[in-house]
Amino acid sequence: MVTDPVPLRAVGPPFRAMDPWGFTTTALLACVLFLFFVSLWNQGFKRRKLPPGPTPLPFIGNILQLDFKNLTATFSQLAEKYGPIYTLYFGTQPVVVLHGYNVTKEALIDQGDVFMERGDVPIFDDFSKGKGVVFSHGERWKQIRRFSLMTLRNFGMGKRTIEERVQEEAQCLVEELRKTKGQPTDPTFILGCAPCNVICSILFRDRFKYNDAKFLHLMGLLNEIFQLLSKPWSQFYNFLPAFRAYLPGTHKTIFKNLEEIKHFILERVKEHQKILDPNNPQDYIDCFLSKMLQEKDNPHSEFDLENLKMTGVDLFAAGTETTSSTLRYGLLLILKHPEVQAKIQEEIDRVIGPNRVPSIKDRQDMPYVDAVVHEVQRFSNLSPLNVPHAVNQDIQFQQYVLPKGTTIYPLLFPVLRDSKEFANPEKFDPQHFLDQNGKFKKSDYFMPFSTGKRSCLGEGLARMELFLFFTTILQNFTLKPVGDPNEISMKTNHTGFTNIPPSYQLCFVPH
Ligand code: HEM
Ligand SMILES: *[C@@H]1O[C@H](CO)[C@@H](O)[C@H](O)[C@H]1NC(C)=O
Ligand SMILES: *[C@@H]1O[C@H](CO)[C@@H](O)[C@H](O)[C@H]1NC(C)=O
Repeated sequence: MVTDPVPLRAVGPPFRAMDPWGFTTTALLACVLFLFFVSLWNQGFKRRKLPPGPTPLPFIGNILQLDFKNLTATFSQLAEKYGPIYTLYFGTQPVVVLHGYNVTKEALIDQGDVFMERGDVPIFDDFSKGKGVVFSHGERWKQIRRFSLMTLRNFGMGKRTIEERVQEEAQCLVEELRKTKGQPTDPTFILGCAPCNVICSILFRDRFKYNDAKFLHLMGLLNEIFQLLSKPWSQFYNFLPAFRAYLPGTHKTIFKNLEEIKHFILERVKEHQKILDPNNPQDYIDCFLSKMLQEKDNPHSEFDLENLKMTGVDLFAAGTETTSSTLRYGLLLILKHPEVQAKIQEEIDRVIGPNRVPSIKDRQDMPYVDAVVHEVQRFSNLSPLNVPHAVNQDIQFQQYVLPKGTTIYPLLFPVLRDSKEFANPEKFDPQHFLDQNGKFKKSDYFMPFSTGKRSCLGEGLARMELFLFFTTILQNFTLKPVGDPNEISMKTNHTGFTNIPPSYQLCFVPH
């Protein structure tokens, strides 16, 4: 049909003169068709080399196949059908899902240098613009992460250690809980203040009173962000960013709140700049400002005001609600299991006694409490889907080829709920982390903070807070349920990107 000479000759005299048989046109058409098929074939080929998965629809991918109210259930069903590594399309973007310990370890640890890049999270990328630490990439991420880890390990933050800051906050927390006079109390607010204050203490060196107006406002902003993030519109924004211009304003509130937190941090930074003594830094901001001075002649330095502000926002956003949700989950689990509470208190009495302030080195003598804290984190499964990763180069992974930039979901809940590693994965049982002799039993499957080079930057801090807060609370109070402990429900309101515990009341009865 294409080579039919009659219409081609009819094109006009100059054409005919150059190419009497229409070969040029034919060749051109063939060329275009050839390129078109090559590109299609290429795409299909690339897709063939990606892991298998459900067939995507044009534009929206597999979105309709996901149950946003119960993503973990959807991800497990897909793993049963396609195996431990499969591909989903969020819109037109392929996402490779890793389901289970073996593939997760193979990617994040064995191939850790390739799988350490951060994947796209549009709702945050649009705000952070690649600054800070949680959503930054490449060299910037490496520099700020290394610096932050050092600082959080007490290098150069003055005389007061991180542990002392947490201990001080634990005592303030107890004072605040005493004011409830053993009456039924919803612990959400008080347990939110403590981790938030720890971050304040690290960033700005001072803590706030639990009724300070500025502090309350800051907490309100953070809370609202987490509430809004669990709304379907936010998931929509993340999964189908191409349509974000048409979405209602939820994300605008999130941006406004983040902007306000950033401004709050900027004010603090300005105060710090006025009195900075680079030889004697007292907190994270001092350390960062000193680093900025050291590198002021380096035009490629990553240590600038924008990165400082954004890293501050990151530490607040990543370090407050996570820890406080885990505390709330923990107290609820202890309420539901009075025998666990009795054993914890026996161990505290034996090792610490009623008068001394608990410290982190008590942990090695307290295998039961250590196991309870691990089990609370395993069971509460705070970040079931992890935070998206990406590969920073083309890589052959098992029998597949993942092109540079492919988004990876290294899921955490299948590892934490593995039935070979944990005898009763769906049950809360501290024995999961104890051996026959009652000694603490470590597990490689314990990865609530993820694992590898991109794992939680605050892991050390969070584990210190959880141990010290739980121990200090139970040293001072007995937890009493308001109703029948058997009727306490663990059901979360939603299972999206974070598992938030249900709200409840309890009594803190002083010893
Ligand atoms: C129980 C408490 C916490 C849990 C369960 C938790 C969990 C996580 C998880 C799952 C990630 C993603 C890791 C990955 O991408 O592989 C993460 C990242 C991160 N967390 Fe935490 N976290 C907690 C507390 C904290 C605290 C207290 C801080 C504050 C210092 C913090 C700061 C961060 C930062 C900055 C990142 C990003 C790391 C990076 O991209 O390099 N987290 N966390
Ligand atoms: C999610 O689905 C699983 C399995 O179908 C079910 O057991 C669980 O109760 C569901 N969770 C929620 C919050 O609906
Ligand atoms: C994981 O790897 C181990 C050791 O190679 C193997 O024994 C086990 O069957 C694997 N588990 C799964 C679920 O593939």
